[in-house]
Amino acid sequence: MNDLLADTTLRPYGLQAEQREEPLGIDEPRPRLSWKLACDRRGSAQSAYRLTAAERAEDLNKPARLLWDTGRRDSDQTSLVEWDGPELRSGTRYHWRVEVWDEAGSAAGAAQSWFETGLLHARDWAAVWVGRDPLRLPPVDPPQDDHEDPLGSVVYLRRDFTVDSVPVRARLYATARGVYEPRLNGARVGDHELAPGWTEYHRRIQYQTYDVTDLVRHGANCLGAVVADGWWSGYVGFDARRPAHHYGDHTAFLAQLVLEFADGSRRVLTTDATWTEGPGAIQSADLLMGQHVDARRDMPGWDEPGGTSEAFCPVAVQDTTLGPLVAEPDQPVRVVKELPAVDIHQRGSQRFIVDFGQNLVGRVRLTVRNATRGHRVLLRHAEILADGELYLDNLRRARATDVYTAAGDGIEVFEPQFTFHGFRYVEIDNYPGEPSPADITARVLHSDTPWTGEFECSDPVVNQLQSNITWGQRGNFVAVPTDCPQRDERLGWLADAQIFAPTASRNADVSAFFARWMRDVVDGQDEDGAFRDVAPVVSLRREGAPAWGDGGVIIPWHLWRTYGDRRVLERSYDAMKAWVAHIRRHNPDLRWRHRTGNSYGDWLQVDVTTPRDVLSTAYFAHSAHIVAQAAQILGHDSDAATHQTLYDAIRAAFIESYVGDDGTVQGGTQTAYLLALAFGLLPERLVPAAVEHLAADIEKRNHRLTTGFVGVALLCPVLCEHGRADLAYALLHQQDFPSWAYSIRHGATTIWERWDGWTDHAGFQSATMNSFNHYSLGSVGDWLFGRVAGIDQTPSSVAYRELLLRPTPDDRITWARATQETVRGTVACGWSITDGRITVNATVPPGSTAVLEIPTPEPDSVRESDAPAAGRPGVLGVVPNAAGVTLRLTSGRYTVSAIAPGAEANQPVITAPSLQETR
Ligand code: BGC
Repeated sequence: MNDLLADTTLRPYGLQAEQREEPLGIDEPRPRLSWKLACDRRGSAQSAYRLTAAERAEDLNKPARLLWDTGRRDSDQTSLVEWDGPELRSGTRYHWRVEVWDEAGSAAGAAQSWFETGLLHARDWAAVWVGRDPLRLPPVDPPQDDHEDPLGSVVYLRRDFTVDSVPVRARLYATARGVYEPRLNGARVGDHELAPGWTEYHRRIQYQTYDVTDLVRHGANCLGAVVADGWWSGYVGFDARRPAHHYGDHTAFLAQLVLEFADGSRRVLTTDATWTEGPGAIQSADLLMGQHVDARRDMPGWDEPGGTSEAFCPVAVQDTTLGPLVAEPDQPVRVVKELPAVDIHQRGSQRFIVDFGQNLVGRVRLTVRNATRGHRVLLRHAEILADGELYLDNLRRARATDVYTAAGDGIEVFEPQFTFHGFRYVEIDNYPGEPSPADITARVLHSDTPWTGEFECSDPVVNQLQSNITWGQRGNFVAVPTDCPQRDERLGWLADAQIFAPTASRNADVSAFFARWMRDVVDGQDEDGAFRDVAPVVSLRREGAPAWGDGGVIIPWHLWRTYGDRRVLERSYDAMKAWVAHIRRHNPDLRWRHRTGNSYGDWLQVDVTTPRDVLSTAYFAHSAHIVAQAAQILGHDSDAATHQTLYDAIRAAFIESYVGDDGTVQGGTQTAYLLALAFGLLPERLVPAAVEHLAADIEKRNHRLTTGFVGVALLCPVLCEHGRADLAYALLHQQDFPSWAYSIRHGATTIWERWDGWTDHAGFQSATMNSFNHYSLGSVGDWLFGRVAGIDQTPSSVAYRELLLRPTPDDRITWARATQETVRGTVACGWSITDGRITVNATVPPGSTAVLEIPTPEPDSVRESDAPAAGRPGVLGVVPNAAGVTLRLTSGRYTVSAIAPGAEANQPVITAPSLQETR
């Protein structure tokens, strides 16, 4: 329908329910509906909307059949409008439509979508948890040496059933204690990987909903599943698997198949004692250790009707209580990309090292030809080579080894599904024959958060940095935001996540992903109000460190600012407040010194030590300030006042204890200044001096940084904010150690954990902690979008309503541009300099306004589409200032040019040729 509308008509697109397009199986009783707007006309905005919903798409046009009709509501709200129609029913698809009116009150575009509810009530479930009787079979994969624990076995479950007619609709609701792959009539169901994902399992286990209408047949059918350890009972974090099982000893499966027939009847089939289980080709599978498939033990047809064998025996009903089941609220992990081998190098008889040219996360699909029966091929994964061989030391206990034992069937294809590895190289050992590139493919997986941002500029090294950042994001957004994907860790560290969240939300729509993970963060909080270092809580049970625990406050606030998600703020609010109260209780003099947990300071800083109390107290102030603002948004006025007072008091304590009269901050490190400046902890009169101290430190080190995880996110933004974009760019372009470009010069295709992961002078850092795929130091990505290209929002703006477009040119690049798909629509900003003129292109989505800063020494030279900017439609104001000109814009696309900074100020103003001249 939208296609027929002129581009000048305001039109909704990108419809979402609960922050996903067409979600299947949601369980929010009042889901929130969102749409974005597009329109090429300047000044376009929505003045009203109407939402309608019906159970059938065709009924949306029939007023009498509507379930919900808001009528025309005068409102500019376009996202997260709460359902206030009738109570939703389980397992029901709701079609919905949005119509909008434009700024003149004229009816404009409309669009429609749907969402479907899952099982909303515990009473909807009739299934019980089933699995292998723990006494029945010993583990099959023996320890490989004395220090290793056995891996758990993989269980195949099945149940035959018949139907007299083909259902008109069939849904499978399923989950596991473990990770599972559902099967129906010999086919894989859905495209989820590592379902049900990882949550604080004691508190919540997610179930998945699959549309299996096309898979159910008339007559005999077979429903099955394969279940492996996963996070439930496998190796997780850096604890040994046994006896430190985090959740349970044995895997289990739970499923409910709901069939609806044309005559209105329903049939429900659930996991129960009638199911059988047995072994299959997968001998063992573990997220950290790898997967072993013995194709000789494959039982073709095991998941087909009647395909059972003697090896199958009745399941044990493990639990008749459901436990804390919730619908999966965000995008699942999926295989989203394949990469071909770019180089295959023979390293010995039947041993090959394959290079994919990119450090990635996923698995390898391998074709084996003409192997003899029982022939074993080994795949070992590594991020990096040392002397041409895999560098494995940094994997610590993670074996990251997949094993394939051939059936001897001619052409055989091996692809593990219950493990994942972080690697660029794979060693294939004992390969029969010689592999060709077509035999080896890397399959890239991650939580399938839609990509929303692009950044590009004239400097290939900076573009490689952006690529490294996005690959770090891909590899570490796997069910939870992890620190790293390769060694025995892969934990949801809170500081890493809070530092990187602003960058992540430029690149992708991570609203549902982070909102879901925030539940784990909140669930992990202890009774005293302490958030932990990681969520879900494993391996580390103590109070979260400064800047780590604070992630529990910072992330919900970031989700509010970026996506306008008030619900995540509401749901996290008590926990946010409790965290601040916890710090305060233990530190009555308001300097955060007392800790019962860890304190990592400015983790992995270089050559300097930022005093921990300075960093901690700065974060205490920052969290108190955020809680004050959140309280205000949520209408908790007295909390807002208390926390504002608390922030002021912590700030005063910070100044008294750590700030000198000359603007020095205790420790004198870059991070000490950055924290004080970024969190507003200096008296106004001392800000210029502090900026000078910071600048002097960077200059004295020949433009080298010393920041670790915590400081690095603030480095370029703070320098730019205080008029030192020159230094921010100098750091961006620094080629020598330590710098982003240094790692790129040494072949990095992802962000390294440490500035000195590998150096010319010292080689590899200690293997005990040296990942080549950590995203924290990639937090500079937010600044690439925000200042290099120039897309930001004003401090009081929410969800990009008031854009702050500040393109920041520099001698070292000639152009930069970024686009970002925000909740309101597309935002773009880019600039280029040619012949002494800067040209800025900006796109402001309907309903938003923008402040666009054009840097120019010559305010009179500003032209909007070749004519003087003042008075042009859409340009609300033109104000000269010290750095150039500020334009105030309504929605629309703009091309603005002016004499470039640094160009001859008296260069003639280029005016548009008149129509006569061009003819
Ligand atoms: C992790 C980091 C984490 C840090 C805290 C490391 O092992 O990889 O990402 O933030 O520990 O100490």
